[in-house]
Amino acid sequence: MKSIKIAEGVHWVGAYHPDLEVFDELYPTESGTTYNSFLIQGKNKTVLIDTVDEHFFDEFIERIEEVCSVADIDFIVSNHTEHDHSGSIEKMLELNPKIQVIASRSGEKFLQEQINKPINSRSIKDGEQLDLGGRTLQFMVVPFLHWPDTMFTYLVEDEILFSCDAFGAHHCPKDNRIFCDELAADISVDFKIYFDTIIRPFKSNVRSALAKLSDTAIQMVCPSHGPIYRQGIAGLVENYQSWSQEVEATNGKRVLMLEHSPHGTVRAMGDRVTQHLELRDCCVVRLAAITLDEEQFMRELEQCDALVVAAATINRDAGPPVWQALRLLSAVTPKNKLAIVYGAFGWSGEAVNLIEQRLVGQRYKLAGEGVRWQFSPTPEDIKKCLSLADSLVDALSN
Ligand code: FEO
Repeated sequence: MKSIKIAEGVHWVGAYHPDLEVFDELYPTESGTTYNSFLIQGKNKTVLIDTVDEHFFDEFIERIEEVCSVADIDFIVSNHTEHDHSGSIEKMLELNPKIQVIASRSGEKFLQEQINKPINSRSIKDGEQLDLGGRTLQFMVVPFLHWPDTMFTYLVEDEILFSCDAFGAHHCPKDNRIFCDELAADISVDFKIYFDTIIRPFKSNVRSALAKLSDTAIQMVCPSHGPIYRQGIAGLVENYQSWSQEVEATNGKRVLMLEHSPHGTVRAMGDRVTQHLELRDCCVVRLAAITLDEEQFMRELEQCDALVVAAATINRDAGPPVWQALRLLSAVTPKNKLAIVYGAFGWSGEAVNLIEQRLVGQRYKLAGEGVRWQFSPTPEDIKKCLSLADSLVDALSN
């Protein structure tokens, strides 16, 4: 076990998880991850920034004790209370009940709900400082990066930013090479994947956090996962600025149409609806669920002004390609949440209602009641679909 000195009186004491294949049982990783925790020693007070997943508690304690006794720790700063960072707090408090846990207001509440017994804790306000003796911690509340509780902690004298999940990457370095500039491989892909999977749904919060950091000198960025950055910090921040930008302005009538048409009738209706929407000055982007480029779909979801989901009923459900696509609704920051649904069926026809429920569950507003038709659409069915499309354009114009 080796703690790593990253600055005078500041040590990495986290944990490596090199064989992790899927983080949170959600996101595949190429080379595992780390749970980063940092020990900061002032003249008067010693602070631990975050802890590690509880399964790594033993190695975590060994690393801490290479630097100081657990009995010497005065505070744990919990930047975020997801288990991979807060999972060892309870055990730390068992070892040293004098430790006070410092968190944002919602972080403190979450911790109390997770530990389910009274703990020695206090919440901080945005901008509040903690004097450690010769060095100062400053807390920056940056909610929804990516939980409501998130905060950054800044070590003022050393200009080190402990950035929680932001600026992280799921990458487990080898041979204690915890600094990004020591890595043999370029991990920029891991860094972008991490942004897309964890941070992307909160683009406006990223922009707010970056604005808050704009006047802050930063010599080192210490995220909660992956390597530490002491070089190329401007590029790191620029990437986040670029990835979190608002989507380009449209004329307000960009319509994304997701289609699943096993027998062709949904697509044929899509031709009619597209023509109708274009006559009303809409720009329609049609994507087939079966050949979906997910990155393009997510980009279009963020850029479009309205969403059309058109799908057939298969076995009393929408088909798997539709659900595969609609799982991404929660992975993006859409510009607008206006939608309509229509689709074909043979004998039952559940898909339209089920898709509408998914959209409403993701806070989409339906511009009209979904339309479904049996086998081949009648002139009346076509009229209803075009009328539904009109409702969408009307809602866009209001
Ligand atoms: Fe790495 Fe949101 O925990």
